[in-house]
Amino acid sequence: VLAVSGSGHFRAEGPVDYRAVNQAGWDLLSLLDDPGPPDKETAREDLDPFGWIPWKSIRTVLCLAGAGGYFAPRFACLGYDVTVFDLSIGQLERDRQIGREEGLEISCIEGDVLDLSPLGGARFDLVYQPISACYIPDAAGMYRQVASVIDPSGLYFVKHWSPIQLQLALDRPWDGAAYRLDRPAFTNEPLIWRSVETWSGERASCVHHAHPLDVLIGGICDAGFQIVGFRQPDAGDVTAEPGSDAHMAAYLPPFLWVAARPTGS
Ligand SMILES: C[S@@+](CC[C@H](N)C(=O)[O-])C[C@H]1O[C@@H](n2cnc3c(N)ncnc32)[C@H](O)[C@@H]1O
Repeated sequence: VLAVSGSGHFRAEGPVDYRAVNQAGWDLLSLLDDPGPPDKETAREDLDPFGWIPWKSIRTVLCLAGAGGYFAPRFACLGYDVTVFDLSIGQLERDRQIGREEGLEISCIEGDVLDLSPLGGARFDLVYQPISACYIPDAAGMYRQVASVIDPSGLYFVKHWSPIQLQLALDRPWDGAAYRLDRPAFTNEPLIWRSVETWSGERASCVHHAHPLDVLIGGICDAGFQIVGFRQPDAGDVTAEPGSDAHMAAYLPPFLWVAARPTGS
């Protein structure tokens, strides 16, 4: 299934085990970035540039699929009670390491966002989820799981990668004049992504799912939330090299950020 040699996106040639592939992929990718220690002066702005988080009324934070040593240490340095939940042991090790070095208490739990039972029934004032729905086959199921671990008066802050970028033609997304989308929006066919970087000749692989906006945004409401904030934080650069990330972002904004509250709160 993964027997391709280059980097980028490829069609999967058969069924793929999203957990096994993404776990191995993120274990390798965790070796790439060193997020560095958190800065208490800028942590709030780094985590919440649009002012969505009610900082004074929250205490417990779940960084969902949010390991890697960036998010959890920033919440922890501000004094919040932080749990980070992630599929990758390598990514979680980043948080453990920074926690040790900086004297921060961070609870690290390994698991899949489609089964939050390892959290033991705990509920959180803030569920903060960086880009991760693209790695799982069932975004609606993920939202139901989130609804089961958020306090009724809590806030759900979720970042998504726009599924429209996964509709781009795999061979030549920029054809010299325009971006080409040749993959239908309502497809559940996953793509395999392989990193440019290699480790002993091996590339990191991840399974990417393009959930239609119907599910990715509408599904938040279906799971019992009311959307209270929405932003596309990267406006790109039309003057950048055509085909580059910055240029593509000007046409197809890559990120969708959503804040939502359980209905009834
Ligand atoms: C884009 S990273 C987010 C954190 C990253 N450090 C950042 O700065 O945005 C995506 C994270 O999702 C995690 N992940 C992927 N699939 C997952 C799953 N099924 N359940 C839990 N975590 C998952 C990966 O291990 C990775 O840490």
